[in-house]
Amino acid sequence: MRILKSRSFRASVSGSNHHLKVGFRRFVTSCRAVVLPRFGGPEVLELRPNVEVPALKPHEVLVRARAASVNPLDTRIRSGYGRSLYGPLLPIILGRDISGEVAAMGDSVRGLSVGQEVFGALHPTAVRGTYSDYAILSEEELAPKPSSVTHVEASAIPFAALTAWRALISTARIAEGQRLLVVGGGGAVGLAAIQISVARGCHVTTTCGKKSIDRVLAAGAEQAVDYTAENIEFTIKGKFDAVLDTIGGPETERICINFLKRGGHYMTLQGDAASLSDRYGIAIGLPVATAALLKKQIKYRYSHGIEYWWTYMRADSEGLDEIRRLSETGKLNIPVEKTFPITQVIEAHEAKEKKQIHGKIVLEFD
Ligand SMILES: NC(=O)c1ccc[n+]([C@@H]2O[C@H](COP(=O)([O-])OP(=O)(O)OC[C@H]3O[C@@H](n4cnc5c(N)ncnc54)[C@H](OP(=O)(O)O)[C@@H]3O)[C@@H](O)[C@H]2O)c1
Repeated sequence: MRILKSRSFRASVSGSNHHLKVGFRRFVTSCRAVVLPRFGGPEVLELRPNVEVPALKPHEVLVRARAASVNPLDTRIRSGYGRSLYGPLLPIILGRDISGEVAAMGDSVRGLSVGQEVFGALHPTAVRGTYSDYAILSEEELAPKPSSVTHVEASAIPFAALTAWRALISTARIAEGQRLLVVGGGGAVGLAAIQISVARGCHVTTTCGKKSIDRVLAAGAEQAVDYTAENIEFTIKGKFDAVLDTIGGPETERICINFLKRGGHYMTLQGDAASLSDRYGIAIGLPVATAALLKKQIKYRYSHGIEYWWTYMRADSEGLDEIRRLSETGKLNIPVEKTFPITQVIEAHEAKEKKQIHGKIVLEFD
């Protein structure tokens, strides 16, 4: 890691967990990072020692990483999903979530301080990700780390919870007393969705695998249906105000649309914007995706009287703040099943992809 003197940033120098305030200003110019030089299997990931750390823009924060979780998006991008967007930008750094300490800040950052413990997540399209000793996030992508959890636990939360937040709060605007169906409640986004909805006073039904049943019930779901053993179409009764479909296949979509009350919201996390862009190129794929989405929105509005959405994670500082509060009060928790040191990122991706571990995987930084 290289550190230079600078007048442009407020900063401190980090040695393990201890921050030494210094009389002159410094910032990091290079550090270790996991780089994706080309698309492929886990073996293409390279932990490089001297990857450049760009200068901070005024609204940006340099975070000394302590933990970064592995999201399905990381393994999908590594395999080539989103190649129309990421391909021309290779090599890129993977990773969305982070928990760590503020190492330096751009001049217009006001809400954080150097040395403060923070957690947060980058937007899905970011190309300098968090699998790096030092990551750069904007101030609105960060919040103080919940004091009740470790860095490892904190790093499992933001990307999944903000995805759920965007769907449930920003899109469906769920309210107390409503009925909600979460398809895939055993995953990180599903678990976050259950807990956010329960905290809002909603009644949650969810589908999950056998191993997840205790976990989703503990998270507050009132009914858990094992999709591997039961026919969800016949087992789940009644109508819902909103459905969050984390699986988003044609079958779950068909079933869920029929579960909705008139005026209800169907939200899938599997929008086709990236896959159509990969197939046709961004210039054609994005308009084709927009047209496909509009067609479905109109179709379902007329046939079922419902709102149909593709929802995507988005940075939301108010949402992250509320997520922090829920975590701090024990109302939102994403269990971490296994950690790997950053030096074993290939093994971590293998474990995630082969579904060897039931639950969240987190990379730790020394
Ligand atoms: N649009 C976006 O911005 C966005 C953001 C985040 C994630 N995503 C996508 O959303 C999905 C979930 O993400 P995640 O982070 O929650 O993943 P995750 O933590 O890896 O969880 C995936 C879970 O899906 C469950 N599952 C698989 N097939 C199922 C089925 N037919 N019915 C019900 N549950 C099923 C499994 O639960 P069991 O163990 O209970 O079987 C598995 O644990 C991924 O495809 C991811 O790429 C999209």
